[in-house]
Amino acid sequence: MSVFRTKPVTAAPHVDAGEPVEGSLHGEVSLRRVLTARHLVLLGIGAIIGAGIFVLTGQAAANYAGPAVMLSFVIAGFACALAGLCYAEFAAMLPVSGSAYSYSYATLGEIVAWFIGWNLILEYLFAAATVAVGWSGYMNGLLGTIGDAIGIQLALPEALSTAPLAYSNGRLVWTGAIANVPAIAIVIGVAALCYRGITQSAFANTVIVAIKLAVILLFLGFGLQHVDVANWDPFIPPRTEEGQFGLGGVLRAASIVFFAYIGFDAVSTAAQETKNPQRAMPIGILGSLVICTLLYMSVCAVLTGMLPYTELGTPKPVATALEAYPDLLWLKTVVEIGAVAGLSSVILVMIMGQARIFYSMAQDGLISPRFGRVHPVYRTPHVGTAFVGIVATVLAGLLPIGVLGDLVSMGTLLAFSTVCIGVLVLRFTRPDLPRAFRVPAAIIVCPLGAFACLWLFFEAFADNWQWMSVWILIGFGVYFAYGVRHSALARSASDSVLRSVVARRRS
Ligand code: ALA
Repeated sequence: MSVFRTKPVTAAPHVDAGEPVEGSLHGEVSLRRVLTARHLVLLGIGAIIGAGIFVLTGQAAANYAGPAVMLSFVIAGFACALAGLCYAEFAAMLPVSGSAYSYSYATLGEIVAWFIGWNLILEYLFAAATVAVGWSGYMNGLLGTIGDAIGIQLALPEALSTAPLAYSNGRLVWTGAIANVPAIAIVIGVAALCYRGITQSAFANTVIVAIKLAVILLFLGFGLQHVDVANWDPFIPPRTEEGQFGLGGVLRAASIVFFAYIGFDAVSTAAQETKNPQRAMPIGILGSLVICTLLYMSVCAVLTGMLPYTELGTPKPVATALEAYPDLLWLKTVVEIGAVAGLSSVILVMIMGQARIFYSMAQDGLISPRFGRVHPVYRTPHVGTAFVGIVATVLAGLLPIGVLGDLVSMGTLLAFSTVCIGVLVLRFTRPDLPRAFRVPAAIIVCPLGAFACLWLFFEAFADNWQWMSVWILIGFGVYFAYGVRHSALARSASDSVLRSVVARRRS
């Protein structure tokens, strides 16, 4: 039963600017506490708006939901809102950098925490690589547009801008391409920024978020003038023999566009670098989620109103909708710039988040202690950041986007459902803990959130069960080969047993 040991929870001290929480008593270097609620909302928007809206919306509308993709966004947003409330309660109560991993360790036990930490690798590390591949597509398109304007060939050839591996009939096959060079370049650049410092990373994120919000608002303002409500009819196209469209299609599209919401939880990984996390965390998590949900609904409505849904199934649906209107062609390049900027901030927050989750896992002894080191000058978890950067570079350079997308969503959904369950468990096991934010009607909201997330998980699992099962099996293999024997919690428990045996012998 020892694998179900839980980490004791203590009320977090009230911390503010410049007060290191960890390591301060032992002279260790700690993370820098500089972020405010505003930074957190911006980090959330930076992580949320990306490939989901700029790439997946069109395919979800064209292949599964039609104009009712708006409804799919509402369904996925509802599941995320329930999970978001639970994240807000945990992040304000336990302001640590391990996010869902740390919350599970405190409530459901070490092996569950490990399982969630392992799945968070899918969410953060794999999402960074996935979005880098999407970034490469938009960047190469933008280089082509600029090159055409100035009469120079700027776009990279396919051999240098696509993945050398493709997924076909259940197997990975060589495509003849060499490597996805733009994807490699963006991951290296962003990882270097994350290595350098949290202040620099937050500043870069703020600039990027301003650009992408401006671009989305421009699209909404100008696109609205070309909306033809006839395109929204039929709202839910009738079900086809292949199982597309109809209510089932709307639900499958919800599990696809769920990807667009991933990222609000990444805000919680910055808890140890936040001033007054008790107040700032709920604002950051829920604020970014509400803003992005409203923007997503609006973009879907305009997009499906501008073009019949059947024409939106391209890798760049927003640009595709603009191409249909000659007076909006100028906006297409602006949207491409916005997408390039927007996707970079997703990569940034994902790399930051993954390094901080590794940092927490290393401090608990479940992975090598090297990942728990903090840079003496930059005060970032530099070893973890470098490792994440290297692995994401390899994945982004070699693999196509489709292999990774569903895995990212499934890993995230498992983490979300565990957080929902964990909040309820802790309400019963530790009702005494001070909670700066409380999930309203937790007895209903928490089980409903867990159910909604698990249900979306199984929608995607049906198509991808082989990949997911292999990932989970490898995870448990690593835990039993390393984590279970190096766990700091297990060591402290056996130390105290030893001490009591020695004390008994002496007496
Ligand atoms: N939500 C992020 C995106 O859509 C992962 O790119």
